[in-house]
Amino acid sequence: MKLSSPRGTGDIYGEDIDYRNFVIDTARKVFEIFNYREIITPAFEYTEVFSRSIGESTDIVQKEMYTFPDRKGRSLTLRPEGTASIIRSVIENKFYSDSMPLKLFYIGNMFRYERPQKGRMREFWQLGVESIGSDNPILDAEVIWMLNLLYKKLGFKKLVLKVNSIGCVKCRSEFIKEFKKSLNKSDLGKLCSDCRKRFKKNPLRMFDCKKSSCMEVIAKAPDISSFLCSGCRKNFEQVLRYLKNLKIEYKIDTGLVRGFDYYTRTIFEIVSEDLKSAQNALGGGGRYDNLINQLGGPDIPAVGFAVGIDRTIMLMKQLGIKVKRKAGKSRVYLTAMDENCQDYSLNILKYLRDLEVICDISFKNRNLKTEIKWAEKNDYDFVIIIGEDEIKSDSLTIKDIRKFKQYKINWKTQKEKITEIIGAGDYG
Ligand code: HAM
Repeated sequence: MKLSSPRGTGDIYGEDIDYRNFVIDTARKVFEIFNYREIITPAFEYTEVFSRSIGESTDIVQKEMYTFPDRKGRSLTLRPEGTASIIRSVIENKFYSDSMPLKLFYIGNMFRYERPQKGRMREFWQLGVESIGSDNPILDAEVIWMLNLLYKKLGFKKLVLKVNSIGCVKCRSEFIKEFKKSLNKSDLGKLCSDCRKRFKKNPLRMFDCKKSSCMEVIAKAPDISSFLCSGCRKNFEQVLRYLKNLKIEYKIDTGLVRGFDYYTRTIFEIVSEDLKSAQNALGGGGRYDNLINQLGGPDIPAVGFAVGIDRTIMLMKQLGIKVKRKAGKSRVYLTAMDENCQDYSLNILKYLRDLEVICDISFKNRNLKTEIKWAEKNDYDFVIIIGEDEIKSDSLTIKDIRKFKQYKINWKTQKEKITEIIGAGDYG
């Protein structure tokens, strides 16, 4: 049998690692500016953590979880998202007794048994934030601000930020009542078998269905925003006012519902119109004021978001957004022309590595032209040549392969010139 990675998973290497590091480093900087601290939770949890928070009738819980018994028969699930695990941790560790709001961020791999396609994987990476302990709409605005700032810093120009409010439990039940009433027999006949079940158990989840006949029926539904109670309406207006104040452009999308049961009030998504596939959401989130209480913790509200790292990288590459391999540092390649040069080269290599210069050496003894071509192809900025001549004269030759300049340095008396030349390159 030919070995391959499981369907919907992939190896991350080469250029994608540079993109990934750039996305993660940029996110860390943004999150730290806003005073968020990192949290790492296990990649699997007891199944209940997800089923009780994401919602029994959601697609994720119904169809997409990797659930398995461990050797003692306990049901475990590979995390399909980060929020539920973090809330489990906050409750278990009683983090809520510390100062509030508690601001956390996370980076991790998630698992969903979905039909793989471009931008949709069975194992994918997310980074996200959760702000726990305040219902102040300024925190809704703060997380949206972070999401917006992150994508700006990554180099995106044309993303759309969609926002909506799905109200509290009270206004949502009014909406659901009216929505159910608005569907006649012929509408119900057009629904897929899943949506017929959803209609009975959790009609809001019908909005996640991607089947065209169901989408047609749902298009006739009243707007959830017209059912907001005065408290939720005022709250949403405040969020929008703060966004305007922060000069963050948004579009109100009254059709946005998001596929998790835990949301209340504000929800949002950042989408790209350049991503033609259905997988055009780069990130999304919202407020979840009842989840902590529902999972056995105190009655404290929270808001957060997550973004897909893989999908973000895919779009960066598609849009031609370039990233630097190692910002601000030149890369140096040493070439020892024959075996007699190896000891001498090793000393130079040690000298450079002690000074934390990014460098490597090949002892392949290929001809110089091949070596330089290879160095260019592999993203080096300088080649240091060590041949018979150099050894005889205690020297080394440095070639700036970007600027086509060459320098000869005496190894015994001019060592410090090496870093002067390499440093002056300021490549990255
Ligand atoms: P989500 O919308 O399910 O939200 O996921 C956030 C992002 O993860 C998506 O916008 C997408 O970029 C990426 N993503 C999701 N599924 C896949 C997949 N199968 N393949 C590749 N990328 C994917 C959440 O997970 C919520 N926990 C967000 C949140 C945090 N809400 C409140 N706090």
